[in-house]
Amino acid sequence: MAVESSCDETAAAVVRNGREVLSNVISSQIALHTLYGGVVPEIASRKHIEKINQVIEQALAESGRALGEMDAIAVTYGPGLVGALLVGVSAAKAVSFASGIPLVGVHHIEGHISANYIENPELEPPYVCLVVSGGHSHLVVVRDYGVYEIIGRTRDDAAGEAFDKVARAIGLGYPGGPKIDRLAREGNPEAIHFPRARVAENEYDFSFSGLKSAVLNYLNSCQMRGEEICRADVAASFQSAVIEVLVEHSLHAVRACGFDTFAIAGGVASNSGLRKAFEEECARRGIRFYHPSPVYCTDNAAMIGVAGYYEYLRGVRSGLDLNAVPNLKLGER
Ligand code: KG4
Ligand code: ZN
Repeated sequence: MAVESSCDETAAAVVRNGREVLSNVISSQIALHTLYGGVVPEIASRKHIEKINQVIEQALAESGRALGEMDAIAVTYGPGLVGALLVGVSAAKAVSFASGIPLVGVHHIEGHISANYIENPELEPPYVCLVVSGGHSHLVVVRDYGVYEIIGRTRDDAAGEAFDKVARAIGLGYPGGPKIDRLAREGNPEAIHFPRARVAENEYDFSFSGLKSAVLNYLNSCQMRGEEICRADVAASFQSAVIEVLVEHSLHAVRACGFDTFAIAGGVASNSGLRKAFEEECARRGIRFYHPSPVYCTDNAAMIGVAGYYEYLRGVRSGLDLNAVPNLKLGER
């Protein structure tokens, strides 16, 4: 059984053998945070407390399994919002203590990467994975189950954060990613040329704050000149600038590592333009491309169950002193 509460989703799931999802319950707080234009940490924590027991009970009920049949309780203990993480960690510890079932602390990003195992039984390490979410943009070499090497990261904003900020600037509201995705389909990606940032010191690193500023400057100068803004063109042009950099850096890394397998993960991985671009480019270059279904891209507990399964097999067990670690690094314990 797995529990996830690192941001604004209260989630629990039951996973068999690390690959089969028996239940996947997600209680989303999006509607609540939309009012404020982003996640309010205190509200998130309070809502997690209200929902967590109910979500765990529902996940067990829908799986058709009893708690006593579980081999391990996996829980996200970082990174994320500390108050939010604490709710899931405390609930998982309580269940583990009461039932005697071993506890396994899981890294949230490891969960995102592991979401790829759910629907792709043939996928096995090694491969390169691009993790793009609201809080992270990482290029990760997955050497083995539980063995990761981060070769690229964002220097400033995460990809999802850039989506959310640009969406707010063009009046689309929170969360911006899915809204830009939809609107971009109606726009011309070549209408406006936004910069494609390169980071000189590391060819695999990302930077999205310059792009975000370029979009804001474009909107301001249009307003000052009294020109009408075509929001669909802005969305499409912005999205294509993000996609181009992500595709180029990622596939360069795949080749440099000598691999023929590549995967994407995280909320932004559900972006339809991004998936299409990777599908086309990977096919052209003879690289096998994997991605989770949208429901396993954004935060969920099934992915934590999968990651927890492989950590459990590696012998990882957490004590009842397991704490929330808001800035937990991938590969650290
Ligand atoms: O993985 P996730 O649920 O939470 C974190 O761990 O951060 O990712 C949420 C992020 C948000 O920034 C959201 O705007 C973005 O993923 N997102 C998308 C799409 N769906 C969600 N970004 C672009 N296109 C989408 N379709
Ligand atoms: Zn996430």
